[in-house]
Amino acid sequence: MEMNDMKILAIDDNRHNLTALKAILADRLPHARLFTALDGLKGLELARAEDPDVILLDIVMPGMDGYAVCRKLKEDGRLRSIPVVFLTALRTDQESRVKALEAGAEGFLAKPFDALELTAQIRAMIKVKAANNLQWMGREQLTSLVLERTIELEKELAERRRIEAERDRLITAIEETDESIYITDLDGNILYINSAVVRNTGYSRDEMVGQNPRIVKSGKQDEAFYRDLWATISGGKTWKGQMVNRRKDGALYTVDKTISPVHDPAGAIVNYVAINHDITEHLRVSADKARLKEELHQAQRMEAIGRLAGGVAHDFNNMLSVILGHGEMLLSKLQAEDPSREKVAAIVKAGRRSSDLTRQLLTFARRQIIDPENMDLNQAVTELLKLLRNVTREDIEIKTIPADKLMMIHADRGQIEQVLMNLCLNARDAMPEGGQMIIETKEASVNSQDVKQHPYMKVGKYVLLSVSDNGVGMGENIYKHVFEPFFTTKGPNKGTGLGLSVVFGIVKQHGGYIHLDSEPERGTKFTIYFPAVDAPPDARSAVSSKPARGGTETLLVAEDEDSVRDLFQQTLESYGYKVLTARNGAEAVEVYLTHREEIALAVLDVVMPKKGGKEAYDEIAKITPGLKVLFLSGYSTNAIHDDFILSPGLSFLQKPFIPSVLARKVREILDTK
Ligand SMILES: Nc1ncnc2c1ncn2[C@@H]1O[C@H](COP(=O)(O)OP(=O)(O)OP(=O)(O)O)[C@@H](O)[C@H]1O
Ligand SMILES: [Mg+2]
Repeated sequence: MEMNDMKILAIDDNRHNLTALKAILADRLPHARLFTALDGLKGLELARAEDPDVILLDIVMPGMDGYAVCRKLKEDGRLRSIPVVFLTALRTDQESRVKALEAGAEGFLAKPFDALELTAQIRAMIKVKAANNLQWMGREQLTSLVLERTIELEKELAERRRIEAERDRLITAIEETDESIYITDLDGNILYINSAVVRNTGYSRDEMVGQNPRIVKSGKQDEAFYRDLWATISGGKTWKGQMVNRRKDGALYTVDKTISPVHDPAGAIVNYVAINHDITEHLRVSADKARLKEELHQAQRMEAIGRLAGGVAHDFNNMLSVILGHGEMLLSKLQAEDPSREKVAAIVKAGRRSSDLTRQLLTFARRQIIDPENMDLNQAVTELLKLLRNVTREDIEIKTIPADKLMMIHADRGQIEQVLMNLCLNARDAMPEGGQMIIETKEASVNSQDVKQHPYMKVGKYVLLSVSDNGVGMGENIYKHVFEPFFTTKGPNKGTGLGLSVVFGIVKQHGGYIHLDSEPERGTKFTIYFPAVDAPPDARSAVSSKPARGGTETLLVAEDEDSVRDLFQQTLESYGYKVLTARNGAEAVEVYLTHREEIALAVLDVVMPKKGGKEAYDEIAKITPGLKVLFLSGYSTNAIHDDFILSPGLSFLQKPFIPSVLARKVREILDTK
């Protein structure tokens, strides 16, 4: 019972007393309602009608006095629990008090009223009323009341249980769903997270609750994104979108997110609830699928290009054999001063170039016969390095990271050197402002997991060769095409676009794989997987792979093609030789004449303008019979060169060849008696 809405009944024949009482109550208990009666009968009537909480009763009244009113009240079952306070004069004697108590009164209040005492008494009487209520209630009444309350309580309990069960069901559903659910306050501070959030982010509830969702921010969305989000939800609308977040361990994940404002019955926003659906795995799977499809597509395309190029190159090769064979023969028969000589030489030169292109195309199309041996890739790298230093500039640092122990690969030595060379030259060209090139070898295994990622791979052990640079790198529009023949970004006459096609063909023919990582402005890394073989190096490999020995002799090198001549010169100089060069047969003879004391060996191209290698040699042999000589030819049909190749003491090397082979051959001839 609130003191505020209580009802007080005052019965007094003295109006002043009632007025005073009213004033005090208005001040102290402003909400209490006061009913007044000027005599006992009226008082009883009011008591029945209003069921007051307390009755203030004067003793001396005309007609029915206070004692009689009190007795009447206490006899009435409905009224007896209302406490009665007698209003007494200050000097009320003991006898009157006893009489009052006997009549059933609960308290006394002396007149004139003291405000404090009055309110204290009224308060006390409220408690008395409650006690009286129980005390006066009959047993039966009590039982039925208890029964009534019990039923009420049971109803209440059942309702509460129903609500709780519903709440439990909701909580279980929320806790067990795989969707992450966050509830925040209006500032975005987390009030609740379900267990999916814990599983998904790696943060515990303790770490999350009270924090701002910023805790999972990845930095992948800009500020405008979050501004838009907040504008939407604080405007009372639902925000939907995709977002990349960061787990506790730093890993990124992507979610489909819905954030909705939660309103109270009055319509004000009180919370936000966010539901996240993690689509990371889904995205990864579809990206994987797309990548696999793209890889397959790419492989099919390369296969088709290879067939086309191979077919064309094969026919070309045959025709070029005829053109070159007859051309070289014709040239060797023409006199130096013959006016047709220059023209035939030009035909042969163009034929050689075409032949070189054709050969590369055939390599790309895997139509070259390979001559594999069990070889050590580390050794091939070491060999190549010597030459590489001559064709790279000072501002390019070449670093090698060879594996300590490397299994053999079953491969064509010449082709492997070609692969290395082409990759390194590309790396060099990618670093016009200098940089670092790293050549690394190591062993690696491909397991079934890798095969799932790249279905074209086979499980097994591999020897890896990687060439990386920190040069210009490539964008997608470039690296998608690099293995295609004739794809080049280098200017006209700078690159043919066959370098990587050749690498591709060779690697494929060796049962290997090639992976390419590149990023514009960052650099490029080519990684090649060669199947490893568990065998010692071949005997011939052991011999031939011994680094070629050099020397300090002076050599005469005659070759008409500038780039080829430069390459020979650089190669031989890198092995310690002193190299004198000539651009044609006539020049070769001149150079020989001025340096004949020094020259230990002549390296002569067979087909050159002005004078061919054979003629030049014939002239030189007139001065120094038996001068050691090595003939070079772009064409190997032995029949054509039969006439001189078979002469004793004359050596022949077919172009193109790898520099180490040239160096080895030169040493071999110099060492013969
Ligand atoms: N390491 C690299 N860094 C950046 N781009 C490269 C790299 N390697 C190759 N490329 C790109 O790939 C293209 C094709 O290379 P490829 O070796 O097949 O031909 P090329 O170097 O242009 O000519 P060629 O090798 O016949 O002289 C290059 O033109 C270049 O755009
Ligand atoms: Mg190249």
